[in-house]
Amino acid sequence: MAGHLAEEIANLREEAEAAIGDAGSPGELEQVRVSYLGREGKLTSAFRALGRLPQDERPAAGAAANEARARIAAALARRREELEAAGAAAEAAGQQLDATLPGRGPEIGHPHPLMTTLERLLDIFVGMGYEVTGGPEIEWYTLNWTALNYPPDHPAMDEQDSFYVSDQIMLRTHTSPAQIRAMRARHHDSCPVRGLDWRFPPSEVLAQCRCTPAPTRVVVPGRTYRREAVTLTHHDIFHQIEGLLVDDGITLADLKGTLAIFLREYLGPQTRIRFRPDFFPFTEPSADFSVDCELCAGRGCRFCKESGWVEIGGSGLVHPNVLIAGGYDPDRVSGFAFGFGVERIAQRRYGIEHIRTLYENDMRFLRQF
Ligand code: FA5
Repeated sequence: MAGHLAEEIANLREEAEAAIGDAGSPGELEQVRVSYLGREGKLTSAFRALGRLPQDERPAAGAAANEARARIAAALARRREELEAAGAAAEAAGQQLDATLPGRGPEIGHPHPLMTTLERLLDIFVGMGYEVTGGPEIEWYTLNWTALNYPPDHPAMDEQDSFYVSDQIMLRTHTSPAQIRAMRARHHDSCPVRGLDWRFPPSEVLAQCRCTPAPTRVVVPGRTYRREAVTLTHHDIFHQIEGLLVDDGITLADLKGTLAIFLREYLGPQTRIRFRPDFFPFTEPSADFSVDCELCAGRGCRFCKESGWVEIGGSGLVHPNVLIAGGYDPDRVSGFAFGFGVERIAQRRYGIEHIRTLYENDMRFLRQF
């Protein structure tokens, strides 16, 4: 009986070694391993049969089984190495053959479309000679309103419902307070206007000036905040770009020309532009500016509120009181200012119907940019 089992084990070992040699892939090799050494494998069954042998026959048969298991395991390991080496060589050869295939690089991030839009818009203004400056998102009440010629409790303030931090400090509702900061920064280093407290009465700033301030030509990008419900075109946090030019003899024609060049540069030369009289306390005269709606080709849709036009921003000639708050003499210089929505112009350019899409961080949307 023992001789019979030992012989059977020797046969199994030879059979297994042949199967191992024939295995052509790591998968096939694994099947061979399971069929001999697995829980239901042939050699495992032989081990189980050892237990049924008479006591004195077990050692010899057991030794044969142990040896067979060791040799099969060694043969499996050798063959696995051979197959892996062959696989690596084949892959290397394959790479040589497919050298023209595009690479499979790691996925890397890129700027958000809103930031790309902002950069492109600023580039256009830099190309026209504007300097890019900034201003804080948490702003003095005097700069958000008073220095911009809003009388106390002016109804226009309701249109930009606001978030207050204290009675003097608020989240800016627009980038226009940066106009005041930019103008005061053009005064000579030694001029008192440079160091004035932002709460200083705006109407008395010019009287403090001891210099001839340099012309101002700035654009100011930034985030702005308003307490309002989200709609297709409105969000409670959004971005604006403010523009301000103060110099000798600036007229409405300069403003219209500048905005037309900029809008056609960014939105395309065919873009139709509309200026309409509007009201802002800090400009006089004032105009809002719109462009034709591309989502509906001007026929009327939800995005343009069926009008065929998309309002981009507001503009006008700088009000004399605002020049005074910036320390400029309105009898000597004049200027124009404009402010527009970055989300709005991105929506118009890329056909994004809902402003919320820009804030949802859906990768399917972001990957398109
Ligand atoms: C202003 O904010 C003025 N400060 C613009 C200005 C600057 C006028 C300089 C004259 C001189 P208005 O509230 O209309 O104006 O907003 C300007 C633009 O910001 C709008 O046309 C729109 O494009 C964008 N905007 C306004 N409110 C929102 C909002 N809630 N969500 C997204 N974009 C908005």
